[in-house]
Amino acid sequence: MLINYGLTKDNGKNRSLISNPRLKIATKMSHLKIKFTIMKNAIVAYATLLFLSGAAFADGLVEGNSEAGKAKSITCSACHGPDGNSINPVWPSIAGQHAKYMVEQLKAFKSGARNEPLMLGQVMLLNESDMANLSVYYSGMQPTEKTVANPETIEHGQRIYRGGNRETGASACIACHGPTGIGNPAASVPSISGQYAVYLAAQLRAYATGARQSDGPTRVMRDIASRLSEDDILAVSSYMQGLN
Ligand code: HEC
Ligand code: HEC
Repeated sequence: MLINYGLTKDNGKNRSLISNPRLKIATKMSHLKIKFTIMKNAIVAYATLLFLSGAAFADGLVEGNSEAGKAKSITCSACHGPDGNSINPVWPSIAGQHAKYMVEQLKAFKSGARNEPLMLGQVMLLNESDMANLSVYYSGMQPTEKTVANPETIEHGQRIYRGGNRETGASACIACHGPTGIGNPAASVPSISGQYAVYLAAQLRAYATGARQSDGPTRVMRDIASRLSEDDILAVSSYMQGLN
């Protein structure tokens, strides 16, 4: 269990994860939650690791200056809202999103790994320290809570979120995104709690078609999204919007 996936490399906090008794319990719980995917060893090991790393190194992953971020955020607020909570369900809320994940996404827009013209126009004007400053600034903001988008599909959405799709082999979302949807800062698993269902569904489709490749060599979300039907996507996205 002491595999180092590079998560601990740059913050100098390399230490034995398993020696902490609270982490041992967390490991057991995560195994229970994702037990049906137990055959898919690779994903289970990955998911377990995400739980451990999040518990151990939650903060201080990006060095940035929030004040400098604020100064750069005027243009962003036109779409993402002055407090990071967007008012258009097509534009994601970024208040409280994890800084490390946001920096990676801004770079992905720039490189084209995430192909999106609106954000490409924005990131062309940003250098690496702007990206860090903006991400630290937005990660400190308070996301607004929401309710599910479609009350009629709660059961379906919850089933997918907690158990995945057994027929197609899509993993349970809860394994990485967590029971409240908060994700995992150190492992760059985004928070999806209270995120707009319309935006989330669009991202799942983008992973499924490969238009979004920001999940990198693990292809984790491309693999999972391609195993979801359109009905699964709509139901689970609606459900995630209601998580908090
Ligand atoms: C013209 C509207 C617009 C402006 C201005 C804008 N964004 Fe965006 N932003 C978007 C859209 C649309 C997306 C979703 C893109 C997609 O579908 O891949 C997005 C996505 C993002 C994401 C990814 C969120 C996630 O959960 O993955 C981040 C981070 C982000 N924007 C930050 C910024 C920052 C920082 C600025 C200012 C420098 C900014 N945006 C300006 C429209 C905008
Ligand atoms: C093994 C871990 C893992 C599992 C299981 C998982 N995810 Fe993810 N998810 C990730 C990671 C890592 C990312 C960020 C990838 C990237 O950088 O593009 C992500 C990103 C996402 C995003 C994009 C969010 C945004 O702000 O743009 C959505 C939507 C999403 N996941 C939904 C789901 C759903 C629905 C399920 C279950 C059917 C699921 N995930 C299962 C790890 C996981």
